[in-house]
Amino acid sequence: MNEIIRVKNLSVGYENEIVLQNLDFSINETEITVILGKSGCGKSTIMKTLIGLIPPITGDVYFYDEKVDYLSEHVLKSLYKKIGVLYQGSALLNSLDLYENIALPIRMHYPDLPVLIEKEMVYSRLSQVGLRGSAHKLPGELSGGMRKRAALARAMILDPKIIFCDEPSAGLDPITAAELDHLMLELRKLFGITFLVVTHELRSIEKIADKALVLNEGYMHYYGEYSNLISLKDPFIDSFFLKNKTAQRNSG
Ligand SMILES: Nc1ncnc2c1ncn2[C@@H]1O[C@H](COP(=O)(O)OP(=O)(O)OP(=O)(O)O)[C@@H](O)[C@H]1O
Ligand SMILES: [Mg+2]
Repeated sequence: MNEIIRVKNLSVGYENEIVLQNLDFSINETEITVILGKSGCGKSTIMKTLIGLIPPITGDVYFYDEKVDYLSEHVLKSLYKKIGVLYQGSALLNSLDLYENIALPIRMHYPDLPVLIEKEMVYSRLSQVGLRGSAHKLPGELSGGMRKRAALARAMILDPKIIFCDEPSAGLDPITAAELDHLMLELRKLFGITFLVVTHELRSIEKIADKALVLNEGYMHYYGEYSNLISLKDPFIDSFFLKNKTAQRNSG
């Protein structure tokens, strides 16, 4: 299997705070990796670093064996053509309809693309997420689940190799969340898309995870097959799952 991302001795954080250090892991094509850990442990920070929103403090990230120079605007621009991002809260622009929202990355990266091709691309993505009939609705006119699917369509518009999703099922009811998981699995099957997903929804994790990256107290606690996690009998991991299970049962 081809390696798509390799992270070597990476430390991430902000000007005054190292949030996580000594991160080492690699992600293979078509795998779904989930990032797990308590609130505030740095899940979104890793994601933001990998997609170039904040620079790494130390260490390196390789994308298909090529070291990413996060300080180069040119490198970032070309990276953005190959990755998709589903931001927490969807991040659709409220004043634009779905068509316009989904066309944004095309217009940004390929401004000279003929309109007919743009239309073909946008409508084909809308169909893939079951929203072809909603092209001219505003985000405010959609349900939470529809907005997530629209955000996924936008993340996929440039045929990315990998999609980064930060809490994709946050705020969705269990049935809609399960539909979103199913959609991700379908997109992986049909287009070979790789996913890196931050989530704490146990049902989602169980359904989609091939690999798990577990974070604790500034370090990577575990990285490997998700199926091995439970049999490890690791006190931190067991208590993480138990606490999440109790919290999710109590919240309905
Ligand atoms: N823009 C920022 N500037 C400075 N510190 C930040 C910034 N964003 C996050 N942090 C800090 O970095 C740490 C990790 O935050 P992060 O958002 O990555 O956590 P998380 O694991 O995604 O949490 P959650 O599950 O609540 O989303 C926290 O201590 C947080 O206060
Ligand atoms: Mg977060």
